Amino acid sequence: MDRLGLDTLDLYLIHWEQPRQDKYVDSWKALIELQKRGRVKSIGVSNFTPEGLQRIIDETGVVPAINQVELHPFFNQLELRDFNASKGILTQAWSPLGQGGELLANSVIAEVAAKHGASPAQVVIAWHLATGNVVIPKSVTESRIQENFAALGLILDAADIEAINGLDRGNEGRIGPDPAVSDFA
Ligand SMILES: NC(=O)c1ccc[n+]([C@@H]2O[C@H](COP(=O)([O-])OP(=O)(O)OC[C@H]3O[C@@H](n4cnc5c(N)ncnc54)[C@H](OP(=O)(O)O)[C@@H]3O)[C@@H](O)[C@H]2O)c1
Repeated sequence: MDRLGLDTLDLYLIHWEQPRQDKYVDSWKALIELQKRGRVKSIGVSNFTPEGLQRIIDETGVVPAINQVELHPFFNQLELRDFNASKGILTQAWSPLGQGGELLANSVIAEVAAKHGASPAQVVIAWHLATGNVVIPKSVTESRIQENFAALGLILDAADIEAINGLDRGNEGRIGPDPAVSDFA
């Protein structure tokens, strides 16, 4: 926080559950303490499984504000999104554009984009918003940042959403590691 020049943070997350290290409950308790002291407004987690979420809730009674997970049309995380919603946890999508590769060149995305006179990235962002995801597309390119913000005005219809939902590849669609088994220590 010194390096950021801030006295309080809006949101602070545990980055990975790392179940084999079994330290995430202690880490969650530390975040709860920071929130009690007023240093952090909201606390949440990232890359948490339903099991990890249930455990921190059971052991502390405190529900994370969000669970930030890999999520894009090739890996749409329906089951985890439903679990998060059942606990009142917002789902935040990391790599929401699938890191800008194959997903943005996909023919279904291209068809929806042509229908609305939008770009593929805008269609993917609009799909996230329609699905209820908090979305954090990354770009270092000013024109793309503007393009991505403009997706707020793009409303997809039910047929568009259904077509994009059909792109899910389950675990095959993952870009990053599986949080249930990953351990970076
Ligand atoms: N919690 C976690 O474990 C975790 C893991 C991974 C990522 N994240 C976070 O998630 C955020 C986004 O993820 P990400 O960067 O991996 O992937 P992403 O947002 O899905 O994709 C970023 C890529 O898409 C390109 N792009 C952005 N807007 C575009 C547009 N309108 N048209 C075409 N290409 C576009 C970017 O290129 P340019 O930048 O060159 O424009 C960049 O190459 C980041 O802030 C990251 O920190 C979190």
